[in-house]
Parts: sequence; structure tokens; C-alpha cells
Amino acid sequence: MLFTTVAAILFAGTAFAQTPAGFAPAVNKTLDVYYGTTYITPGLLVKKSSVSKIPVIGVANATLTGKYLLAMIDIDAPGQGANAKRGTVLHALLTDWTASGATQNGSTLLTTKATGPASYFGPAPPAETPQHPHKYLFILHEQPANFAVPASQKAVVQSRLNIDWVKFIADAKLSEPLYANYLQVQSGDNTKRGMEFEA
Ligand SMILES: *[C@@H]1O[C@H](CO)[C@@H](O)[C@H](O)[C@H]1NC(C)=O
Ligand SMILES: *[C@@H]1O[C@H](CO)[C@@H](O)[C@H](O)[C@H]1NC(C)=O
Ligand SMILES: *[C@@H]1O[C@H](CO)[C@@H](O)[C@H](O)[C@H]1NC(C)=O
Repeated sequence: MLFTTVAAILFAGTAFAQTPAGFAPAVNKTLDVYYGTTYITPGLLVKKSSVSKIPVIGVANATLTGKYLLAMIDIDAPGQGANAKRGTVLHALLTDWTASGATQNGSTLLTTKATGPASYFGPAPPAETPQHPHKYLFILHEQPANFAVPASQKAVVQSRLNIDWVKFIADAKLSEPLYANYLQVQSGDNTKRGMEFEA
């Protein structure tokens, strides 16, 4: 009984924390993210080797009929020099997600054939002392008709460095995000990933 109550309270707490504390925009609804059989509860710390390939995504208890846009952003990229502010790295920006008709563990899955505007590359946070796990956010938006990366955001998307998602939303005229989630990977995790870029 006590356990049930504690679990219920903890679970209720996570219902409002699909994005990390301090991240704007805050999102309350969980984007279901699966890497193989691993379900990402918001903030789950995972091995680099387990997130090298693009995950399966979906949502619970909703019928999705439109097209959606997914961003994945590392918000803990180390800055240059001591005391430098942390920046962001864009790990994926993928368009044209639609309901696939399949379900997994109660999630209605989404699928896309798109590999851009920025293809998925798995987390590989560089070593740091002291260690600093990186948070990788997943953010799903409704995709506006005739969506294209706005001119003001093209360089940022191409370089993948220091994307400001609030600015991107404004420039691309996106509505508020619908679903979000995040995972963490420890800095310096050297489990095998299979790509060179560190972020
Ligand atoms: C998220 O939940 C909080 C707490 O209930 C609420 O204040 C906030 O308006 C909600 N935000 C969104 C975007 O639904
Ligand atoms: C199924 O989804 C729930 C959340 O809705 C999650 O807690 C659980 O770990 C998931 N299980 C599997 C096997 O994916
Ligand atoms: C989805 O709906 C079922 C049945 O109403 C409920 O048990 C479950 O908690 C809901 N899941 C979410 C993530 O809202």
C-alpha cells in the first residue's frame, strides 16, 4: 500500500517533467521513445552504445492524423574555455512523421522516411573532469504545411551547433511542442557507437 502510494506520487511528479528543469518550452506530455526494448523514462541514463541508432517513437492515448517534426538536441555541449556556458548540438531534425498504424507497448508509433534536414547521429559526449552527463531532448511538433527550415536557421541546422529551439520555433512559425522526452549519456562513455563526431 505504502509502495503503491509512493510510486503513484513519483509517477504523478514525472507527468509534468518531460523536459528537464529550466528548459523552455516545458512540455508535459511524454513522447514514447524506444531503443530496441529499452523504454526511455524521462531522464533515463543510458549507454552510448545503446542509442547509436535512431529510436522508435510513439505516443499513448492519442490519435495522430497529421505530419510531425522531431528534433533531438544535446543541451549540455561543453563551451570553449573555463567557465564557458554550455551550448547545444542538434542530433536530429526529421520531418514527415506520420502514424504508422503499428503499436508497441501501448504506444501508437510514428514513422518517417525522411533523413533530414539533419539526420540522426547518436550521443557521444566527450570526456570531462568532473563528469557531466549530457541531456538529449526529443521534441515533437506539428509540422506546418510546406515546412522548410527558415533561412535564418539554415546555418545553425547545417553546423548543428548552438541551435536555440525557442528561436527556431519562432522563426519556423511552429506551434508549441506537443510531446517531449529526454535521456542522458555520461560524458566520456566509451561504449562503442560507431561514429566519429563527439557531442
Ligand atoms: C504543464 O503542467 C503544469 C502543471 O500542471 C501547468 O502549469 C502547465 O500549464 C502545463 N503546460 C502545458 C504546456 O500544458
Ligand atoms: C511500456 O510503457 C510504460 C509507460 O507507458 C513504461 O513504463 C514501460 O517501461 C514500458 N514497457 C516496455 C516493455 O516498453
Ligand atoms: C492511457 O489510457 C489508459 C486507459 O485509460 C490509462 O490507464 C493510461 O494511464 C493512459 N496513459 C497515459 C500515458 O496517459
